[in-house]
Amino acid sequence: MKIPMSRWSAPATFLTAILLPACGGASSQTAPAAAAPAAAPADDGETQAARGARVYAENCASCHGAGGEGSKKSPPVVGKDALPLDPRPEQKSRKVQFHTALDVAQWVVKNMPPAAGGSLKESEYWDVLAFDLKANGVPVAGRTIDAKSAADIKLH
Ligand code: HEC
Repeated sequence: MKIPMSRWSAPATFLTAILLPACGGASSQTAPAAAAPAAAPADDGETQAARGARVYAENCASCHGAGGEGSKKSPPVVGKDALPLDPRPEQKSRKVQFHTALDVAQWVVKNMPPAAGGSLKESEYWDVLAFDLKANGVPVAGRTIDAKSAADIKLH
């Protein structure tokens, strides 16, 4: 890998979390509330989406457009042509299919922004995913958008 390992320390946790969703082991997110009374309640998808709008505006909109409509060099991430199952013929980077929102998250955290994959915080990646799902009409209210819920959100 050309990227120095230190750059991956934070995202590695995230990748482990999203690449091993079936582990079922105890994690900080699944710890019983009683064991961690000071912990903040799990985020609602609407709250995540609201924060994600800002993450998107600052890190993604320059290429994918203010409303996710895409641009000459970048595909749309909102609308009927967004997030197709198979990469478009002209795409060089994406080789994987997007069956679920988790597939999108796994690819995005490694590859977006281009040349700086993994550069955002774990929570920022989930926030921007919540934002993008909501913008595409996927209901996000009443649940936290995370590896568990994203695996159940079928896009195709
Ligand atoms: C410098 C321009 C640029 C920036 C900034 C950028 N992207 Fe991208 N994005 C691209 C390009 C180009 C592709 C197509 C990659 C390929 O060839 O498969 C892409 C692909 C994607 C895809 C896959 C779309 C599909 O249908 O295959 C998603 C999802 C995505 N970007 C999300 C994001 C998010 C979220 C951010 C912000 C954190 C972001 N991008 C920032 C240029 C950019």
